[in-house]
This record gives sequence, C-alpha cells and structure tokens, in this order.
Amino acid sequence: MRLASGLDLAVRKPEKWTANSKDHRPELQSMRVLGIESSCDETAAAVYDGQRGLLAHEIYSQAALHAAYGGVVPELASRDHLRKLLPLLKKVIAEGGGKGAVDGIAYTAGPGLVGALLVGAAVARSLAYSWRVPAVSVHHMEGHLLAPLLEADPPHFPFVALLVSGGHTLLAHVHGVGQYEILGSSLDDAAGEAFDKTAKLLGLGYPGGPALSKLALQGTPGRFKLPRPMLNSGDLNFSFSGLKTAVLTLANQHRSDTQELDEQTRADICLAFQDAIVEVLTKKSLAALKQTGLSRLVVAGGVGANKQLREGLSHAAGKKNFAVFYPKLEFCTDNGAMIAFAGAMRLRHEGRRTMNFPIKPRWDLAQLGAPD
Ligand code: KG4
Ligand code: ZN
Repeated sequence: MRLASGLDLAVRKPEKWTANSKDHRPELQSMRVLGIESSCDETAAAVYDGQRGLLAHEIYSQAALHAAYGGVVPELASRDHLRKLLPLLKKVIAEGGGKGAVDGIAYTAGPGLVGALLVGAAVARSLAYSWRVPAVSVHHMEGHLLAPLLEADPPHFPFVALLVSGGHTLLAHVHGVGQYEILGSSLDDAAGEAFDKTAKLLGLGYPGGPALSKLALQGTPGRFKLPRPMLNSGDLNFSFSGLKTAVLTLANQHRSDTQELDEQTRADICLAFQDAIVEVLTKKSLAALKQTGLSRLVVAGGVGANKQLREGLSHAAGKKNFAVFYPKLEFCTDNGAMIAFAGAMRLRHEGRRTMNFPIKPRWDLAQLGAPD
C-alpha cells in the first residue's frame, strides 16, 4: 500500500521501539492520522500529523444526555455516536487538510461499551476501506497513557504511568510503546468511578468528578477525615469502594429524615473524600517510582485533570526529585487526539485493510505488546 508520503507500508520494516529509545514520537514520519474515539460518552475525532503535530480535534460530550439518568445509558450512547460522529468527522477532516492527506485511520477498539465501540469501528474501517488507507485499532488506555507525549516536552521511556480514569486505575512500568508492566491496579472501583458514585450519593449529578472537586474548593480543611484504603497494604493495588461507603455513613450521620445535608457539610465531605483519594494515589505513585527506580511519572486519564491531585504530585515531585508529566487538561478525559497519536505510533507497523471491524469491549493492557 502506498502512503501519500510515498512510503510503502506493506514492505516497510521499521525499527522496533525499545526502552530508552529517544525516538518515541513519529516526528520524523510524514504520517497524518485521523483518530476516532467513541468508547463511552464522548464522540471525538482528531487529525495528528507526525511532523506538524495536532492539526484538528473536536469533542462532543454526551454528558447532558446521560445526566438525567445519573450515569451513562449504553443504548443512548450508541445512538448519539451515530448521530454525531459523521458531522464531527467532516469538520475535523476539512481542518486536517482533507481526506487526500490522511495516511491512516485509528479508532478505539476497546475497552468500552460494545455498541459505542462498534459505531467508531464501523465508520473508521469503512472510511479506511474506501479511501484505501490502513486502519488501526487502538487500546483506549494506551491512548490515555501516551497522551502526555503530545506535549512539547514529552517524557522519555521508561517511566511509571498512573492511569486514573472512570473505568481503570492502575500503575504501570512503561518500558516502551505497548510494553506495559502492570505494577498494581484497583481491586474494585476505579478512582473516577469512586468520584462519580460519591458525587451521586451527595446529589451532585453526573459526571461527578468535576462537580465534586469544584465543591471541595469550598470545603473546610480537617473537619472530616476519611480512611485511606490500602495505603499500607505493602503492594501497589488500590481499593476505593469502601471510601464511597464511608462517605455514605458520614452523610447519614449529618442528615435526618426531614433535613438534607447543608451545603457546607457537603463541601466538607467532598474535600475529605478528595484528600483521601489524592493521598492514596500520590503515595502509591511514589512507592511505584521507588520500586522501579525510575524518576519520571506520567499521569493520565480523566482523574488526571483533578487540580488537587496535580498539585499534590507536583509538590511531591519537587521534594523527592522526580519529574511529573500530564497531558493538557482537555486531553486527560476522552478525546480523539490521543487515539490519533497512539494510532500514528502503531500504524506504520500495522497497515492492513479489511472489511472486519473487530472490537474488544474487554482488553487487557498488559497483553498489548510492542508493535512489530
Ligand atoms: O478518562 P475518562 O474521560 O474516561 C474513561 O476512560 O473512563 O475519565 C472519566 C472520569 C470520570 O469518572 C470523571 O468523573 C473523572 O474522570 N474526572 C475527574 C475530573 N475530571 C474528570 N475526577 C476528578 N476530578 C476531576 N477534575
Ligand atoms: Zn478514557
């Protein structure tokens, strides 16, 4: 297959990505990739160019659609992706230099909601087939993990990654693209899920994370103290479901049958909850750095947008002498840029055209493997 750049994907055998390789961004490649994300409740698309960086990106959030139900309704999510994806793509493709300039199409193949994934996969594979360019399936969490590499001063491999999203919480030793050694993960709720469920039981609506952290700004420091689950477990695993129960108990102690929680008490509980999560995430990240002997920490996923977490980690980085890397706020939560970028990293290795559009609603990050 010939790319617009004149490279032949089928015969080209690029060097293998290795740990310590400084060449972890495809800057040297004249490769332009369209990325499509539709794994949950954001319809997003972007065009990433290996030399010029991000050319276009658009995100449509379904938050308002699901808010009435207090969480994502899978069938509504699929239908809305169907409605929004094509108009979004038109815009992004036009801003990204037109379809003739696209060398490949990357899409989130998993993990995520089956119906939602199928929309992105079907559109991506069909477009790739008709434009005669390769399509590549991207692991959503690899997208998150590599998102900080979109920044101007990206981390070099190897590094420790703290991935904190709505569906996953894990620490990984990242040796290179696709080489993810999982050091620990949540045994129950993900950090974002804990934010969302706690926000819901405090009546803060959906999505809960941003609302909870906003209200926590008005909280009284030290009024309440919640447990730090598994802080001293001696491993790098997490558990957050008990924290939500502790919040429920605390809330019940401060409300009666006739009287709801007052605003200040809710804010104080939010702050106590956030303090607990941030302390656990920060200390486990430090333990992961110590265990691996590494001095670079990458934080990604929706909870990576949390201001208190960023401040806590940056403070620790100054004291303990390690470097911490985040994506831009808009690229912490789901977006198309991270999929286009991860796709660009993999595409040159996986150029394939097929009528299938395989998706993997469950997909183990540790099984990905380096591109070959
Ligand atoms: O990465 P993401 O967009 O989706 C998944 O892959 O799951 O993460 C969404 C999660 C939600 O649980 C949301 O409440 C949480 O990230 N989140 C936050 C903040 N912004 C988003 N949690 C805490 N503080 C925030 N500022
Ligand atoms: Zn995500």
